[in-house]
Amino acid sequence: MKKTARAHTNIALIKYWGKRDEQLFLPTNSSLSITLDRFYTETSVEFDANLTADRFRLDHAVIEGKEREKVQHFLDKVRRATGETRFAHVESVNHVPTAAGFASSASGYSALAAAAIKAAGQTFTEKELSILARQGSGSASRSVYGGFVEWQKGQLPDGSDSHAIPILNQDEFDLAVLSVEVTTEKKKVLSREGMKRTVETSPFYEGWLKTVDRDLAAIKTAIHARDFRSMGEILEYNALKMHATTLGADPPFMYWQSATLKVMEAVSQLREEGLLAYFTIDAGPNVKVIVEIENEQAVIERLNQIDVVSEIYPCRVGPGITYLD
Ligand code: ADP
Ligand code: DP6
Ligand code: CO
Repeated sequence: MKKTARAHTNIALIKYWGKRDEQLFLPTNSSLSITLDRFYTETSVEFDANLTADRFRLDHAVIEGKEREKVQHFLDKVRRATGETRFAHVESVNHVPTAAGFASSASGYSALAAAAIKAAGQTFTEKELSILARQGSGSASRSVYGGFVEWQKGQLPDGSDSHAIPILNQDEFDLAVLSVEVTTEKKKVLSREGMKRTVETSPFYEGWLKTVDRDLAAIKTAIHARDFRSMGEILEYNALKMHATTLGADPPFMYWQSATLKVMEAVSQLREEGLLAYFTIDAGPNVKVIVEIENEQAVIERLNQIDVVSEIYPCRVGPGITYLD
């Protein structure tokens, strides 16, 4: 039976940056994100006894090589967890740019996990789905839920306590997240290799680890108090620290381009003028600007004036996994 699931991307306010176990995707630190309404993946899975390998189509194109193997490797985990023995047809459409710092791996693996479990005839709890999705891409563990979501790093070596939990529902803290596109080019350093190189070689990684728990605790307090200013200050600071670690890696790398800096400067200029907005950046050059709903239009107008901005996608807080059949 063919089953289809939809999952949305998420933007981390406290970043997941580093693994303590690469096979199980266990993170070195807990993280916190907002699920976005606008960007999502829809994935269908159908197991088929006639297949001799998993087939993967993304955005209507047949995918071969390494990218297909990643999907097969993930489906091997699904087969181990469910007792399913057949290979599958996987058909996925990203309503988000792929591998460009818009978190396609989060929506992609969350949708794949949900569709595959259903196609295998099983029902998983959200916690179980989060643990499974995590093993495709760490950030996918958070896309199982809508709203504000924490991924608790856990302690157990088997990863059974490393999963997301909902912090606030979709309708409990309404915010706008402006996804400011400066390029949709694929990144040169995928998140996975970027964080690995940083953990292994950057002398600044220690500073990240020492302070990230404090950031997480403080932002949770701010979120629960609906204290937008404190939340903004913490999330911006946390993003800057994450990116700082990449500069100390060997060989060093950075996800920012000159256009990225232009948007960052504009956001701090807006604040000087009294318009509260804060930026965060994932593993890529595009910027996400967090703003209260009442200031959304004014901030969009100002950011649209920057010559290097190619598109602004206004997002709101989005839902968790949904099933389409
Ligand atoms: P992003 O910023 O888009 O999350 P990453 O470097 O984290 O970039 O991950 C990109 C990788 O995620 C792709 O190379 C691919 O392996 C995987 N991916 C993206 N979309 C999908 C999808 N719909 N289904 C399965 N895997 C996907
Ligand atoms: C900077 O989840 O894409 O976006 O687990 O290796 O697939 P893998 O990496 P991924 O890393 C996301 C890194 C980040 C921060 C975040 O989303 O928390
Ligand atoms: Co990703």
